[in-house]
Amino acid sequence: MVKIKTPFKSLLKARFITFEGGEGVGKSTQVRLLKEKLEKLDINVIATREPGGTKKAEAIRSFILEGKSENWGPEAEAILFASARLDHMNELIAPNLKKGNWVISDRFHDSTRAYQGLTSGVKENLIATLEELALNGHSPDITILLDMDPKIAFERVAMRDARAGLTGQSDRFEKEDLGWHSSLRNGFLKIAKNNAKRFVIIDANANEDEIAKAVWKAVSKKFPLQTKVKF
Ligand code: TYD
Repeated sequence: MVKIKTPFKSLLKARFITFEGGEGVGKSTQVRLLKEKLEKLDINVIATREPGGTKKAEAIRSFILEGKSENWGPEAEAILFASARLDHMNELIAPNLKKGNWVISDRFHDSTRAYQGLTSGVKENLIATLEELALNGHSPDITILLDMDPKIAFERVAMRDARAGLTGQSDRFEKEDLGWHSSLRNGFLKIAKNNAKRFVIIDANANEDEIAKAVWKAVSKKFPLQTKVKF
């Protein structure tokens, strides 16, 4: 098997990939694995996250996740997430796509739709206005939804935190109850159903390698990346 650098059109076009899902479903690991896989194909790719990705957006991230906006209400939080996204889009995502680099984001606008919109009750017209503002004409080419029963995901988060010596600590949304996280899961599934062309739903119960294979299958199907030839 010989690896060939091929100037296929699909390799040259910049792609914007987002990962979504509830807490503890393993998004960050899959973002890393997908980035590594694309780099092996000589694709320039950056991995980023939301809220965050730029200095200003990271400042908003700390403010929200430390719980400082908790009593401001979900509308104000949706606006904060969108403000962070606007900077992230204008300063990092759009310039990279313009340069031809691929961008993978751990969460993006569907998180606001699921967390603040469908689960916390922010109305559709505000969500849609904020999306229009922050996306600035760009939208993900593919969104991978890692789907999992929140009960199992919670156990995973507890184990991960215990390993890191963080027992008992949780951020702004991790401490919501199981019913809330079940609504969140249903919210994401509804968004995926309403945007079936963009979304791929992957069962996040499988092990890391199996999930990575499913992610790769979805990405390479969407953007044919024919870079290996047999002799
Ligand atoms: P993070 O530690 O990045 O969580 P995770 O590892 O699950 O992605 O924290 C981000 C939190 O912010 C997470 O609970 C989801 C939430 N969030 C929203 O509520 N709305 C949003 O628009 C975004 C991007 C994140």
